[in-house]
Amino acid sequence: MVLAHLSDTHLRHPDDPLVRGLLDPRPHLLQALAAVEAHAPQALVFTGDLSDDGTPESYQELRRLVLPVAERLGAAVIWGNGNHDSRTAFRSVLLDALPPGRGEAPLNQAHDLGGLRVLWLDTTVPGADHGEVAPASLEWLAARLAEPTQHGTILGMHHAPLPVVQDMAASWELHGQADLARVLTGSGVRAILAGHFHQSGFGTFAGIPVHAATSVCYTQDLASGRGMRGQDGAQGWHLVGVHAHTVTSTVAPIAHHPTIMRTRSAEESTADLASRGLMIADS
Ligand SMILES: [Fe+2]
Ligand SMILES: [Fe+2]
Repeated sequence: MVLAHLSDTHLRHPDDPLVRGLLDPRPHLLQALAAVEAHAPQALVFTGDLSDDGTPESYQELRRLVLPVAERLGAAVIWGNGNHDSRTAFRSVLLDALPPGRGEAPLNQAHDLGGLRVLWLDTTVPGADHGEVAPASLEWLAARLAEPTQHGTILGMHHAPLPVVQDMAASWELHGQADLARVLTGSGVRAILAGHFHQSGFGTFAGIPVHAATSVCYTQDLASGRGMRGQDGAQGWHLVGVHAHTVTSTVAPIAHHPTIMRTRSAEESTADLASRGLMIADS
């Protein structure tokens, strides 16, 4: 199975679209979606900060841009929330399948992608940038993980449970990690997909591989060292391969760059391999 993992789109109300007064994130999202479509994933997984301003209109704008692509692909869409999102607006515009009327309750979700279970764990604290998992959400997670699954579980969450690489980021990391680790240790979760830090990062948490995607909107400039400088460049998403024996993430930048070797279409590559009696291994 192929998944497209996108994070931190930071869309705003269309009447006030510029992030920090400077950057319209919509062209970057469209660029990312064109790349996603070229890989024909079975699902798009969004790992939070989908809105920058938390307005219902920003989520409507997100639907307007994303859903036609998902419909053309026949792909499922999993919407996960981050610290910039408003739970109430997020629920009412994006999560029509969840029962309404639970106000600011955490937006935990369980999805089934052809036997692959994808759980979304809400790590947000309303009004705060750091993350924390509420005791009731930990109980919900433990109960879901106790249920059988055919192809295993992938866990999505906004605040990547990894040590930070920029000093300032310590002020918005995930709190209570020991409690979460107690629930996840030995649970058999195959991978954690996350976001939040606007830079791709990988590691393990409670023995589980963590794949933190960079941002589709703007990124943190690691060329500046441990300080912080948000920049309009190096945006990307992750192409996730769910195989029988492993889960991979490939960092996919949204931009094209100068060509240095002969270009081949996917069809040309397949024909070339077939002419040599070769085929693409599928697992
Ligand atoms: Fe973000
Ligand atoms: Fe965030």
